[in-house]
Amino acid sequence: MSDEGAALAALVAAGLARLEAVSTLEELAAAEAAVLGKRSELASHQQALGRLPPEQRREAGRQVNQARQALQATADKARDRVRVAERARRLQAERLDLTEVTPGPHRGRLNLVGQTRDELEDVFVGMGYSVAEGPEVETDWHNFEALNMPVAHPARSGHDTLYLDWGPPESTLLRTQTSPVQIRVMQGTPPPIYSVMPGKVYRKDTPDARHTPSFSQIEGLVVDRGITFGDLAGTIRSFTAAYFGPSIQSRLRPAYFPFTEPSAEFEITCTICQGGGCRTCSGTGWIELGGCGMVHPKVLANVGIDAEEWSGFAFGFGIDRCAQMRHGLSDMRVLLDNDIRFISQF
Ligand code: DAH
Repeated sequence: MSDEGAALAALVAAGLARLEAVSTLEELAAAEAAVLGKRSELASHQQALGRLPPEQRREAGRQVNQARQALQATADKARDRVRVAERARRLQAERLDLTEVTPGPHRGRLNLVGQTRDELEDVFVGMGYSVAEGPEVETDWHNFEALNMPVAHPARSGHDTLYLDWGPPESTLLRTQTSPVQIRVMQGTPPPIYSVMPGKVYRKDTPDARHTPSFSQIEGLVVDRGITFGDLAGTIRSFTAAYFGPSIQSRLRPAYFPFTEPSAEFEITCTICQGGGCRTCSGTGWIELGGCGMVHPKVLANVGIDAEEWSGFAFGFGIDRCAQMRHGLSDMRVLLDNDIRFISQF
C-alpha cells in the first residue's frame, strides 16, 4: 500500500472510532465537522488529488471517495442511534404515571368538617331520616319571620346578621342558622317529615377559640302525628350514643327559642376531660351542642300545617363543635387554618 493509502486508512480508522463514540447530537455535530468537514484531513486528501499525475489520480480518487462514504455511513448510523437514545432519556425524564398511588396528604379529600357532616348524615339516615338542603342566601322571611322571629324580636340581635344589598333594605341575608331549611322542607313536603338539613351559616363574628364567622350546622325536623317531647329526648340520646359512643352522656336544659315551645339546649359530656371539668368546658364537664324543642304552633301555621293534627320537634347543632368533641380539639380555629400538619391527620 502507498504512503498515501496507509495515511488514508489510518484517518478512516480514527474517524470511525470518533464517530462511533459519540453519545449526543452535539458531540456528533462536532465529530462530523472534524472528520468530514471542509477543514478535515479528508478534505485535504481530496484537495491533494488535483496535484497528482492523471494515472494515479483515478485510483487515489476512488480510495478517497470510499473513505468518505464509509465515514458518512457511520455518521448517519450514529445519528439514528443517538436520536433513539435521546428520546428514551427524555421520555424517562418526563415520565408521568397517572395511575401511581402516592400515600399521604397529596390526594384530595374532604376536610374534617366535610367528613363530620357525612358521618352525622349517616347516623340520621340510619335512623330513617332523609337529607335536605337549602340556599345560603336567604330571605328575611325564611330565616327569621316564618320562624316566629318578627322584625325587632330581641332574639334577632344575637345573630349578628350579614345583610346583602339586594331588594328592599334588610330583606336578603346570609342565613344565620339552618332553621330556614325547616320552613322550606315543610313548604315542599306534606307530613310525615323526618329530615336533617346540614349546611353553612354566617354571622358577623370575630374568630376566637369558640367562634368562626362561617360555620356549619345540622338541623333536624320531625313532623308526624302524636310526636312528643319524649320522642325528642330519646332521639337526642340515641344520636349521642351512636355518634360519640356509649360513654358520652347527653342532657337537656330548659332554654328559649322563638320557633320551639317548650325549648331546650342539649349538652354532652365534655370529651376533652371526659366530664371531669377542663378549660374547654369552663370546668362544668358539659359542652353545649345545640338547641331543640317542640315546633311552635305559629311556625306550623306559617307553612300551612294543621297543628291540631300534626306535631313535631326540631333540633339544630354545630357540625364544627361535633368535630371538636369527637377529635378532642381545644381550639376551633384549626378547622379553618389549613395547616397541613393538622389536615393530614384526618
Ligand atoms: N337555630 C338555632 C341556632 O342557630 C339552633 C336551634 C335551636 C335549632 C332550636 C332548632 C331548634 O331547630 O329547635 O342557634
